[in-house]
Amino acid sequence: DEDERTERIEAALAELGDDVVILGHNYQRREIVEHADFVGDSYQLSKEAANADADYVIFGGVTFMAESADIITDDDQSVILPSMEASCPMAGMAEALQVDAAWAEITAETDDDIIPITYMNSYADLKAFCAEQGGLVCTSSNAHKAFEYAFEKGDKVLFLPDKHLGENTAHRLDMAEEIVEWDPWDPEGKDASAAAANDIILWDGYCQVHERFRASHIEDLREERPDANVVVHPECRREVVEAADVVGSTSTICETVEDADPGDTWAIGTEIHLAKHLDRWHPEVEVLPLCGDACMDCNAMRQIDPNYLTWVLEELLEGRERNVIEVAPEEKELAQVALDRMLEI
Ligand code: 13P
Ligand code: SF4
Repeated sequence: DEDERTERIEAALAELGDDVVILGHNYQRREIVEHADFVGDSYQLSKEAANADADYVIFGGVTFMAESADIITDDDQSVILPSMEASCPMAGMAEALQVDAAWAEITAETDDDIIPITYMNSYADLKAFCAEQGGLVCTSSNAHKAFEYAFEKGDKVLFLPDKHLGENTAHRLDMAEEIVEWDPWDPEGKDASAAAANDIILWDGYCQVHERFRASHIEDLREERPDANVVVHPECRREVVEAADVVGSTSTICETVEDADPGDTWAIGTEIHLAKHLDRWHPEVEVLPLCGDACMDCNAMRQIDPNYLTWVLEELLEGRERNVIEVAPEEKELAQVALDRMLEI
């Protein structure tokens, strides 16, 4: 049962001491977050990983986050992901091979310098590709700064893989007129010269959790609860972001509720576990999930089961490192360049 599991996790952590640090993304379940040394958004977790001294960084999150932690930590530190099944579907929507082919087609159509920016939600080989082409990584908290960096260095941006974050960022920078989409799966619809004629080329990827939020959810809520405020993640569709009161990364969503006055009502347009944490952490604020709690569950994040956390910790006590995430050395160096550029902006 949960009490017994908690005791086992605590006993293992007491014995492992400073050898282990647990990082947990805001979307992890309560039973993981409760054991984490640090809970935050993707950007904060990458900074925590960079500063970690522990031999083992146990990552409560998804594969691309653990990969980034492996890239950023020293070679003698190991990053452990309690489940190897925790893969973000959006990251899988832009494979380096596919991007390479699109890059060749689009760059052949223009003499302008295109700078690729990949969202953190991507695999290390794509991060390495972006570094090689003069680009960088961004997260939802610094995408606007990454765009500014890219437009200082070059003429155009190829943004991967999340079209909604790309579109929302272009609006934030008043560049919405410059957008064109590139659908890598559409054999008919790809027009490299049309793509190359625009300043912002958006890869047609998306998050299947955030795409399910609709502007009608906000309209219905405002009708039923005119007093409610709405905060959403920038992976949501443009019309949802436009209808919300606040938009931002998972840490911005946390701060918004933290800063609310007692008695305020906030509806949360992001993964359901964060809405549940905020409800527990801030009993003085009324926290509502924007769309009930049935459909906004991230399958990838959910793979990190507390039983697996117990297992990887107890295996470490026996001297066995399980589920170590290791980025291939040839990708590591370049991907690090793309991440470092982000950490510097
Ligand atoms: P944050 O960087 O805002 O934590 O978002 C990560 C993520 O996967 C959102 O779906
Ligand atoms: Fe990926 Fe969406 Fe899950 Fe975030 S919420 S990890 S983008 S599938």
